[in-house]
Amino acid sequence: VVEDLATVDQMAAAISQMHLRGAGLIGAAGGYGMYLAASEAASSKDFESTLHAKTDQLMQTRPTAVNLSNAIHRQQAAIAKETSPEKKVHTAFETARLIAEEDARFCRQIGEHGLKIIQELAEKKRGRPINILTHCNAGWLAFVDYGTALSPVYTAHTHGIKVHVWVDETRPRNQGAMLTAWELGEHGVPHTVIADNAAGHLMQRGEVDLVLVGSDRTTAKGDVANKIGTYTKALAARDNNLPFYAALPSSSIDWTMHDGLKEIPIEKRNPDEVHFVQGWAEGEIKKVRLTPEKSPAQNDAFDVTPSRLVTGLITERGICEASEGGLFKLYPEKKETARR
Ligand code: MRU
Repeated sequence: VVEDLATVDQMAAAISQMHLRGAGLIGAAGGYGMYLAASEAASSKDFESTLHAKTDQLMQTRPTAVNLSNAIHRQQAAIAKETSPEKKVHTAFETARLIAEEDARFCRQIGEHGLKIIQELAEKKRGRPINILTHCNAGWLAFVDYGTALSPVYTAHTHGIKVHVWVDETRPRNQGAMLTAWELGEHGVPHTVIADNAAGHLMQRGEVDLVLVGSDRTTAKGDVANKIGTYTKALAARDNNLPFYAALPSSSIDWTMHDGLKEIPIEKRNPDEVHFVQGWAEGEIKKVRLTPEKSPAQNDAFDVTPSRLVTGLITERGICEASEGGLFKLYPEKKETARR
């Protein structure tokens, strides 16, 4: 569905109700949301107080992906530099465009860096397909373009390396079964959808070579928040001696946070997403109840994988160890922010 979003209310609803989703796309939408906020503030009686209220409204939409607050803070700084409402609106539009363009560029670079990991595995497997397991959707539907975890997969595919992707269905919203599978299919990448609980079993049988996931917020020490279920995939990968990489642009790094388990806000969504499942039936999207009416449900949308379980981080500047030292080698200018 292509939806026109012309007001802050519409943008906030689209983000919180997940008409659009995925860390990078949420950030880009937050950037354009701030342009709409500035436009609405410019036609109000009091620019500053209207902008403040609308910024809060956007900030409240989803808590875990730091791309949203990073984009909003960047917009606040850019808007504050201008003096007239007209200039503020113009700057907000330009900044939104920059955020979106940067997201696409960073994701393309992640693909180029991540390619090396797949190439090395391909050399060892001598022509046999590389089996990559991914969780949730961190492809071009979740970003402005290319994606993060899927970007190296697409780059490898373009380079003629044989890849096959195990797609976790990703309950309860089924981003894997619905979005990742669709994206890979559109791209012509061989893939198989598996039940969320199948990954460990496949790893034990030698049917997985690499785990590649995205991230909604990564701390300065390399802890990775990603879609619920990622942590157990990392545990299984460690038990089976398999590489587990998280791919993320720097817009997903929270330099102010260190201990992911204690500090990263984990979104709790409506339990109805667990109670009900939706899918295609007779050409329409239908929703059916899965659980007994009297059983309560809980819906934590993300979990945190501690850095010790992460083989490495694939960023737009290269691949690094999931640690403060690793990240600072790539982003030395962030030392100040992180230590404050
Ligand atoms: O809740 P969503 O669909 O916005 O989930 C975010 C994700 O897509 C992931 O957790 C993803 O793996 C990393 S960011 C695209």
